[in-house]
Amino acid sequence: MPRYLVTSALPYANGPTHLGQIAGAYLPADIYVRFLRMCEEDVIFICGTDEHGVPITLKAEQLGITPREVVDRFHEEIKNDFKGLGISFDNFSRTENSEHYRFTQGVFLDLLEKGHITEKLMKQFYCEKCKRYLPDRYVNGTCPECASLNARGDQCDDCGNWLDALDLVNPVCAICGSTPVQRETKQWFLRLDQFQNWLGKWYENHGEWKKNVLNYCRGWLKKGLHERAITSDLDWGVPVPLEGARGKVLYVWFEALLGYVSSTMEYFAEKGNPDGWKDYWQNPDCRLVQFIGKDNIVFHAVIEPSVLHGLGDFILPWNIPANEYLNIKGEKFSTSRGTALWTKDYLDHLPPDPLRYALAINAPENRDADFTWDEFRSKNNELADVFGNFINRTIKFAHLYFDGKVPEPAEAGSAEEELMASAVRTRDETEGMLRKFQLKAACSRIMDLAREGNRYFDQAQPWKTAKNDPQACATSIYYSLQIADSLRILLAPFIPFTSEKTGEMLRSTSLLWNDAGKECLPAGHQLGTPEILLSKLKKGFEKVMAKGETVDGIDDSNSPEVPIKESIAYDEFMKLDMRVGLITEVHDIEGADKLYRLIANMGDHTRQLVAGMKPYYSKEELLNRKVIVLVNLQPVSIRGVKSNGMILASDGDGKVFLLEPGSDAMPGDSIR
Ligand code: 2FM
Ligand code: ZN
Repeated sequence: MPRYLVTSALPYANGPTHLGQIAGAYLPADIYVRFLRMCEEDVIFICGTDEHGVPITLKAEQLGITPREVVDRFHEEIKNDFKGLGISFDNFSRTENSEHYRFTQGVFLDLLEKGHITEKLMKQFYCEKCKRYLPDRYVNGTCPECASLNARGDQCDDCGNWLDALDLVNPVCAICGSTPVQRETKQWFLRLDQFQNWLGKWYENHGEWKKNVLNYCRGWLKKGLHERAITSDLDWGVPVPLEGARGKVLYVWFEALLGYVSSTMEYFAEKGNPDGWKDYWQNPDCRLVQFIGKDNIVFHAVIEPSVLHGLGDFILPWNIPANEYLNIKGEKFSTSRGTALWTKDYLDHLPPDPLRYALAINAPENRDADFTWDEFRSKNNELADVFGNFINRTIKFAHLYFDGKVPEPAEAGSAEEELMASAVRTRDETEGMLRKFQLKAACSRIMDLAREGNRYFDQAQPWKTAKNDPQACATSIYYSLQIADSLRILLAPFIPFTSEKTGEMLRSTSLLWNDAGKECLPAGHQLGTPEILLSKLKKGFEKVMAKGETVDGIDDSNSPEVPIKESIAYDEFMKLDMRVGLITEVHDIEGADKLYRLIANMGDHTRQLVAGMKPYYSKEELLNRKVIVLVNLQPVSIRGVKSNGMILASDGDGKVFLLEPGSDAMPGDSIR
């Protein structure tokens, strides 16, 4: 049985995380890991912060604090971002840990002894104004490969090339902007040239990797691999463990990659099994899967395998499912350009799952994707309409007609058999997709099953059969509940919080992938209390969010207090705001024989209405019915019960007929 060691790129502790990073390296890894756990695979999920190198010292200079203060602060912030999003690392370490120092220095000496590292003099930029050497990102300039003006001394984000600062066109010091001079300095070099042929053969055995990764790899080999400096003149980082190397530290990339190993060591040491890491890193049956953004491909597909191969006993990446970029208006997320969307800002206002869903279904898997709030809103609403609605109506019905218990079904008919077979197919097909890192396709395939569930429910019409064919009603609710439970399982890797909440409502806890498609909820099983799972968002909600206010329209409570923005007179017809509402609760009002108190799901909120429908409609006829509600009417109190709007109906010959919005209309849709 293979086991899995899954890693996500160690984020630099020089700032909080933004959604571009989340979509590239963390969410996909988390979905994959949660899925593997549900398949009962042996898997550990490893990460930590990358706390050295110029990205950190530059930030410290910018903020006027020490590098240690920078990494302490952002390590915590980043950890909280991940926690809030439900990224379920088994260990989240930091490269400032002493274990990491010890391990990386040992690796350096080992490679030196094996002849894979050599010492030599090299030219490096020196800023005469700042009186210091300028390693990698201390120099900015024009990319020699793609002419981008945003290149830095270590790499160009625009074309993904790993650069040598000396090759930059028009180099300038990143601190003072002056043109640096070149000086000689002693550094240690990794003899990548020794690994060229070996790497070529290794790639050939990995034809199943993503095309973008293989293309990058082949491109580098074609250009020829040369020795690269793995030390630099900096006073922050892991010191080079040699005499005469004062003021020199291991190059951040060289040691950060080893951070995956030291984080695993820390994990097992804390579990009281200090050699446990070897069962993964030095076990040929272990599959090392490394989730990264495309700007990290060279490091994981060239340097890291060379180092691990050079060391000898280590396994190599089994797959490197690198993602493309998530952009904003066609540009990469960038802190300096002010185009980053911070994880924390999002989490301060909205729950994690809508974001997880939107980023998964629109993931930059094979090409760059663009993030827009409109798209986010529409994905959020899709999740609420398709999945949330199916779960809600199914559980509500079970409460209304079957005392909150799973009803005893009649024998399955062809519709039921088809539905269950489709759930099994969905489970098996998405398992195949997830194992091949096609997370986006898997997610949308599962949503198709939710759509099928809704279609089945609509066609079975339990609100009608409840009156004239209770057996058929029981059967349709029984099978809808089984599908609800399957969806809870299949969506758990994507939206774990909502899946858990669904589990509470279904009183179902299995998180075994193979339980999807089975009839896990026996007749008579008691269900929990129904609650609204997900809410829709209004257009323009992100502006409210940007102002730091609570988002309007994410109110999950059944609170009858609905704010009225504008009250109008009846004759100002054009100002009438009419919306589709879905009746989710029908109650009597004590002492009133004509009135019902209704709760309607309005898409982005629920509201209470009082309507004189009792003589014309039974409770069952109203429940789950879509109606048209005039929403911007001053609230009134009828028999002491507040009514926040008016349900539209035609009134003829003493009989009242509710206006129907049409079967495709969704709660919250406006009537024009
Ligand atoms: O791009 C980055 O944020 C790097 N800190 C990734 C490092 S991945 C590995 F080396 F740990
Ligand atoms: Zn470039």
